[in-house]
Amino acid sequence: MDYLQIQGPTKLSGTVTISGAKNAALPLITLTLLAHNPVTLTNTPEVADIKTLLKLLENLGATQTLENHVLTLDTSSVHHTMANYDIVKTMRASILVLGPLLARFGHCEVSLPGGCAIGQRPIDLHLKALEQMGAIITIHAGYVHASAPQGLQGSHIVFDKITVTGTANIVMAAALAHGKTVLTNCAKEPEVVQLCEILRDSGIDIQGIGSSELTIIGTGGKTIDMVDFEIIPDRIEAGTYLCAAAITNSTVTLENVRHDHLNAVTAKLEQMGCRIDVTDTTMTLHPAKELKHVHIITQEYPAFPTDMQAQFLALAIFAQGTSIIEERLFENRFMHVSELQRLGADIMLNGHTATVSGGTPLFGADVMATDLRASSALVLAAMASEGTTNVHRIYHLDRGYENLEQKLRALGANIQRLKE
Ligand code: EPZ
Repeated sequence: MDYLQIQGPTKLSGTVTISGAKNAALPLITLTLLAHNPVTLTNTPEVADIKTLLKLLENLGATQTLENHVLTLDTSSVHHTMANYDIVKTMRASILVLGPLLARFGHCEVSLPGGCAIGQRPIDLHLKALEQMGAIITIHAGYVHASAPQGLQGSHIVFDKITVTGTANIVMAAALAHGKTVLTNCAKEPEVVQLCEILRDSGIDIQGIGSSELTIIGTGGKTIDMVDFEIIPDRIEAGTYLCAAAITNSTVTLENVRHDHLNAVTAKLEQMGCRIDVTDTTMTLHPAKELKHVHIITQEYPAFPTDMQAQFLALAIFAQGTSIIEERLFENRFMHVSELQRLGADIMLNGHTATVSGGTPLFGADVMATDLRASSALVLAAMASEGTTNVHRIYHLDRGYENLEQKLRALGANIQRLKE
């Protein structure tokens, strides 16, 4: 297995180009299951989760090429409808094939994703909504067996909780359903918005895009003529690099970024004393003279994103005073805390709240990545720690960050990928 060796403390400078959004690409890849034409997706991030999902689609019979961030997908020859465990277990977002496969073929078998490090990650809301649309759902031997022989029927669905991939799955199912579907209490993440925009541009009548209520008129089972498109920039990768600049007290510019997708993150960085200049496609962070403590509460978009919680917890270690980090979405998303404590951080955990006493210096040590965003928090802290830090199990990082060490090295970090 690989690990990252990082020498700190380090300063960064220069410009980093942000890749396409993993969490936009995943549902957009499964959306192609609704299309009868080949589709080209540009700005596709070449990260492990994308390659895993493409392997799943190939197993179903799709053909694809991905080179230089251009993905061409043709699902017209898909003939299987079973998403098997050996792939789904490595990436729970594989559940995003459920809605499209059921809508297009009238039946499918998708392995239950299983939990992951940050939480149990249930899919009850996905299944309840599909049942309300007329699907017959049974769970047997670790698989969801779904069938809708007469096709799915439009319905008024109210989500008990806001779910990002749940909203995506049902939007895709509704696109091919018979009649009108109204979805209330939808997720409004930019990744969901882009999915809805692509459906609209592909001829689907969808109203309320970007709001918490969507109205979709389905095609009654007819596949769509899907448009080609460019995947939006990854707002979480962008936020991670903003934190890299802030934590190393550096001025860094991000290119190919949508600052309007990062308002909650920008607000917190400015509260901590940083200044951020923006243009249509760039963001430049100017570091704080002295980082101020912060209070973070993770909630659904447009509030502060849970996927930036670990990075800000690392940043808070270098702020003056006591910071409070509240994780409201996932039940176990503080595994980076014990690893940061190995570097010397003074953090107290109490249920869903971490209290960070800032200002204690960190010293390099061996630490272990536990999940995607926790891993990036360890890299950030390592760059501001005194000495050598080895971050192990970085396959977690490779799931969602494209060329992380190359991008950081180009900014001046002393970081290299080594073999255990
Ligand atoms: C998406 O996960 C993202 N993944 C996650 O990013 C992100 O952390 C999360 O949304 C929240 O923003 C992708 O988009 C591929 P949810 P998702 O359904 O859709 C509960 C990363 O780092 N829930 O919005 O799985 C659930 O337990 C990943 O890139 C149910 O109870 O998250 C959680 O508490 C990590 N029943 C809350 O809702 C359900 O059926 C939000 O989960 C579904 C969800």
